[in-house]
Amino acid sequence: MERATILLTVFGALLLCVTSLPAKKEQDVNIYSFHINSTVNSRYAFTVITSRVANRLNESKEVHFQVKIPKNAFISKFRMTIEGKTYDGVVKQKEEAQQQYSQAVSRGESAGLVSSVGRTLEEFKTSVTVAAFSKVTFELTYEELLKRRLGKYELRINAQPMQPVADFKIDVYINEHPGISFLEVKGGLKTQELSSAVISTLAASTKEAWVNFYPTREQQTKCEGCGENGLNGDLLIEYDVKRPNQNGELQASNGYFVHYFAPTDVQQIPKNVVFLIDRSGSMKGRKIHQTRLAMLKILGDLAGDDYFGLITFDSSVHDWKPELLQATETNVQMAKSFVREIDARGGTNINEAVLKGVEMIKSHPRLGSASILILLTDGDPTSGETNTERIQENVKKAIGGKFPLYCLGFGFDVNFDFLEKMALENDGVARRIYEDSDADLQLQGFYEEVATPLLTDVQLNYIGAANLTQTSFRQYYNGSEIVVAGQITDNSLETFQTEVIAISKNTNVTYQDSVSTKDVADVLPQHENFIQRLWAYLTVKQFLEKEVTLKGEEKEAARKKALDLSLKYEFVTPLTSMVVTKPQEEETQVAHKPKEGEEPPTHSGRTRVPSYSARQPAVHKRRPHFSSVSYRQRGLSQVAQPEPALSGWMDTSLRKFAVQSEITLLSPVVSLLSPVAMPTQAEQPKKTPTTLPPVRFLISAQPKPICYNAPVGHKLRLLLDTSSDFSMNGELSEKGFQLIAVHYKTAKLLVSPTESVYSDGENNVKLIWGQSAANRLELDSVSVFLRDNELDVTMGSVRVVFLLHKKDGDVFLWPSIRHQPKKAKTQGILEKTDLQYEELPGSKIKIMDQEVMAHLSSAFDYGLPAVPTVECWLVPFQSALQGELSDFTVSQL
Ligand SMILES: *[C@@H]1O[C@H](CO)[C@@H](O)[C@H](O)[C@H]1NC(C)=O
Ligand SMILES: *[C@@H]1O[C@H](CO)[C@@H](O)[C@H](O)[C@H]1NC(C)=O
Ligand SMILES: *[C@@H]1O[C@H](CO)[C@@H](O)[C@H](O)[C@H]1NC(C)=O
Ligand SMILES: *[C@@H]1O[C@H](CO)[C@@H](O)[C@H](O)[C@H]1NC(C)=O
Ligand SMILES: *[C@@H]1O[C@H](CO)[C@@H](O)[C@H](O)[C@H]1NC(C)=O
Repeated sequence: MERATILLTVFGALLLCVTSLPAKKEQDVNIYSFHINSTVNSRYAFTVITSRVANRLNESKEVHFQVKIPKNAFISKFRMTIEGKTYDGVVKQKEEAQQQYSQAVSRGESAGLVSSVGRTLEEFKTSVTVAAFSKVTFELTYEELLKRRLGKYELRINAQPMQPVADFKIDVYINEHPGISFLEVKGGLKTQELSSAVISTLAASTKEAWVNFYPTREQQTKCEGCGENGLNGDLLIEYDVKRPNQNGELQASNGYFVHYFAPTDVQQIPKNVVFLIDRSGSMKGRKIHQTRLAMLKILGDLAGDDYFGLITFDSSVHDWKPELLQATETNVQMAKSFVREIDARGGTNINEAVLKGVEMIKSHPRLGSASILILLTDGDPTSGETNTERIQENVKKAIGGKFPLYCLGFGFDVNFDFLEKMALENDGVARRIYEDSDADLQLQGFYEEVATPLLTDVQLNYIGAANLTQTSFRQYYNGSEIVVAGQITDNSLETFQTEVIAISKNTNVTYQDSVSTKDVADVLPQHENFIQRLWAYLTVKQFLEKEVTLKGEEKEAARKKALDLSLKYEFVTPLTSMVVTKPQEEETQVAHKPKEGEEPPTHSGRTRVPSYSARQPAVHKRRPHFSSVSYRQRGLSQVAQPEPALSGWMDTSLRKFAVQSEITLLSPVVSLLSPVAMPTQAEQPKKTPTTLPPVRFLISAQPKPICYNAPVGHKLRLLLDTSSDFSMNGELSEKGFQLIAVHYKTAKLLVSPTESVYSDGENNVKLIWGQSAANRLELDSVSVFLRDNELDVTMGSVRVVFLLHKKDGDVFLWPSIRHQPKKAKTQGILEKTDLQYEELPGSKIKIMDQEVMAHLSSAFDYGLPAVPTVECWLVPFQSALQGELSDFTVSQL
């Protein structure tokens, strides 16, 4: 048999399909690559979803792209690349697309681009016709400022590629200047089968963190909620930042600044809280039951110096007690008995209820306290005053800007616009409570967010700045954060001054800070744009909110500002649309961002379903929400490519890292007795350390990884899985790996710093580093992808990424196992992951009932392209691996 060696020197992708094997289900439309890349700089997140799809048919075919993004985010870029041509979505004023929209509707065409799905996500979908044997690349970018709630930020990434994808990966990078205090990965994708595919890394400096999720194709069908169609779920990354400075954190670049303010040095302010609970007929059943559950818990959580009131309302208004009572144990018990008896009947008199609540709070003035009014309702006002505008007026007048009103809308029968407007007019927010089994937890969760007021009447001032986002806040709650961004007008300033004036418990407090502009401007060059975009994002959000509460000219002005900025920064907001022109048939689609609770435009009026009927949670049953259409138009040509707004971000060059050569390696045991090779550097991880550590292996473990000095000059057994006939051996030098051999069944892959050669008797393929990112080899249970400086290899159920590191003219490899089969049958130096250990006093740790001496040290993590320095417990080789060197060496690669 003739063996051909295929040299992949062409720009483009090579897809090898071995048809002789009873292969996996071949898809006519094959997603051959699906990447999600999220970069978070100081809470501002950019996420890029890239899907590459091939039409394998001999005829043209419609290819769909469908992804979910957080509701809070703005889409800022969408691009399709077909046969080398790029088609960019263009953001336009919504009205501009409106005419085309109506035309399309009149022709009966309708294809949604963005629709609301469930509580936290919106769906973006589009499709394009792809010619026979052609490919398309979809790329969607969205941006969001992560909001701090209950002491943490949450980055939610949804993955649902609609089919298992061999080249699937999620890469998350977080950069937080003051340091990350904790990082946790959760969500449906981190359960069961898939949890081993999540790797999170925190740099020793704690300023940077990485989360990588590289499930194999096999895994993508086996996880919870996943099936033939592959992954379906969220990856939730939760973290918080350190707050060494009570005055807040300041960042600036390119003439824009952002100030994050979340002091922790303040005492809780006792609160006066009145709960207004709708008990109209529509609350009957599960809703009122869940409300009772939530209220019982909330009452139990009141602080002893809080005062509280309870008002229930249907057609008429009933208070539990005519005035606020202190949350003493007896009072709380009495209130609980009252809550247990609340049942549903009658209409909905919101006006009278809110006014009564306001009255109750006002007649109980208390120095050094914070007042809060919380309204829970599931419907429109139906009795008493029912004109929503008049209710808003009455309420606004009664509250008089003295304290916030929070409105919780239960289910989808509420007039959410009304609640939102009323809340925003009174320094509060409106939140929807989704009818679901966890509605009581949603209620409690909301309450917790406002349960601990720390400051009231917060005013933030900046000298030499303009175009500030909101600078005064009625209340600041524990676990939240105040963010202000603006433009620096005076660039000659040597220091930038921030001042926050607020009322704490019984005292006025001032936080003043003066930061040298030199210290402020230390954003990495590739991220310098983000503060300006953050400012634009926040400004647009706030103008959109303001617009809700304003009238007449003011309303128009707010709207215009939000619109102008949305257009300038290419954000898809409720005021703008993204127009996507497709190559074939000159078809165009328009994407609109739906508003919370917005009804489909085809609906005339709101459909009211009595909520006491036994209906399923509304959120799942809702009709798909089409807020956009597709239309055909003659003469629309390919959209000109605007300058990408974020060109500065696309820096893929390898990051600089510390020099680490010329080390004489001691034997592992001896090196432990010598002083710790590298002191923990908390502050400057990128500086070259004075003493350099030898090449070290890291084993992931909690709370810190374990590391040991690598035995160089040996041929090492890296991973052996007898059950799947997989093995990987490598030759380690002082600089890293120079040659790694992977064997899988009859296949062999030799990876060196110059090239990689794959052979399996039928195919011989050579992949050369530094070539096109799209080089790939896909066989039945083997796939090899070459991108920039990494070779991503899956063989059976092992996925390993070989990183090519370059430094001082030296080039070496480092293998990073991204997934391996369940222990038991695996061996080798890289087999150990998630090592369990216990920290003991006196620099000792206990691994598997064995006490070993350990030094707190650090190591370069070559498993990431950025090579961060991570903190680790340094232990002898034998302790880390529970074996002798001879157990881990091989005579032949
Ligand atoms: C596509 O291939 C099938 C056979 O696989 C053949 O019957 C059909 O005629 C082909 N269509 C075109 C447009 O070439
Ligand atoms: C604020 O919340 C944190 C936990 O998130 C807690 O440790 C702290 O004590 C709280 N502060 C006050 C004043 O309650
Ligand atoms: C920022 O403020 C200045 C005046 O201080 C104004 O001229 C300018 O238009 C503002 N820029 C934006 C984007 O609103
Ligand atoms: C706080 O400042 C306000 C004016 O800014 C003043 O009226 C009030 O008396 C001060 N309160 C205390 C406790 O000092
Ligand atoms: C993710 O995007 C950032 C910013 O564009 C880029 O610097 C980085 O290299 C990308 N990461 C991956 C793994 O593609």
